[in-house]
Amino acid sequence: MSIAYLNGEYLPLSEARISPLDRGFLFGDGIYEVVPYYAGKPVGFNPHMTRMANGLAEIEINCDIDLAGWNELMSDLVERNADLGENLGVYVQVTRGADVKRFHAYPEDVPATVFAFAFPIKDPEPTDRTKAHGYKVNSTEDLRWKRCHIKSTALLGNVIHYQQGHSAGQNEILLYNEAGELTEGSSCNAFIVKDGVVITPIQDNQILPGITRRIIIDSIKAAGTIQIEERTITMDEVRNADEIWITSSSKEIAPVIELDGQPVGDGKVGQVWEEAFKIYTASKFDY
Ligand code: PDD
Repeated sequence: MSIAYLNGEYLPLSEARISPLDRGFLFGDGIYEVVPYYAGKPVGFNPHMTRMANGLAEIEINCDIDLAGWNELMSDLVERNADLGENLGVYVQVTRGADVKRFHAYPEDVPATVFAFAFPIKDPEPTDRTKAHGYKVNSTEDLRWKRCHIKSTALLGNVIHYQQGHSAGQNEILLYNEAGELTEGSSCNAFIVKDGVVITPIQDNQILPGITRRIIIDSIKAAGTIQIEERTITMDEVRNADEIWITSSSKEIAPVIELDGQPVGDGKVGQVWEEAFKIYTASKFDY
C-alpha cells in the first residue's frame, strides 16, 4: 500500500484529501520535485531541493521545511514504502494552500499545502549500448510559456505536447522555439552529439534547469574524456546529429534512435552515450 505525506501526517495515499479551494487545484499554483532513490540512496537530493526552494522563493510561497526537514521526510517516505519496490521516485509538491475564496492575487496568512508520495521507478538501463533501449521521438514547436525554468505544477503546456508524441506512438517529443532552436523535451532535457562533442542548450527561461542535465555536464567535465558544450542548437543540427539523448530523473540518460521517423546517426544507440552513461552511473550518487 502506498503511504503518502500530507501536511504533517503520513496516511494511505488513497485516503489523502485536499480542499477543492486549494490553489494547486484551482490555478496550478505550486512547485514540485521528483527525486529518484535507488536502494534507498537519492540522486541529486541537494540540487533537487535547492531548485525547489528557488522555485518557491520565485513565486513567493512560504514553506518552513528546510533541506534537513525534506531529507527526513523523504527518507521516511522511502522507508515506509519499501514494499513498493527497491527503486522509488519521491514526488513532493508545495502549493499556495487553500483560501476561503477563488481570487487570483496571492492570499496572506494561508498555510502552504505540502504533499508527497513515493512510486516505483524502473531499474537503471544497462550501460552496454547493444542492450540499451532506444527511444523514438518526434518534434514540434514549443508552445509552452516563457517561464519554463520554474518547476511549476501547472504542466498543461507540457502535458499537451507529451500527448502529441504519445498519440503518435512516440516515447517523447522534442520542442523547438520560434527561431527553430532546440529547447527541451516535454518532460526531459535534450542533448546532441556531433563529431564526438556533446552539446546541450544553455540554461535559460526556455528550459527546466534539469538536475540530471547538471549531473551529466559536471560528471563529464570532471572525467575529462569527452568534450561538452552548452550553447544554442538549431533543429538542423539536431537532425544531422550523430546521437540524441533525452534526460530526466526517471529516464536518466535515454538514447534516441529515431526522430520524426528518421534514424538518428546510424539508427543505433551511440558510443558516446555508452561512455557518458558509464561516467554518469559511476558518479550519480556523489551529487
Ligand atoms: N520531469 N524538462 C522538463 C520539462 C521536465 O519535466 C523534466 C523532469 C526535466 C528533467 O529534469 P530532472 O533531470 O531534474 O528530472 C526537464 C519530471 C521527472 C516529471 O515531471 O515527472
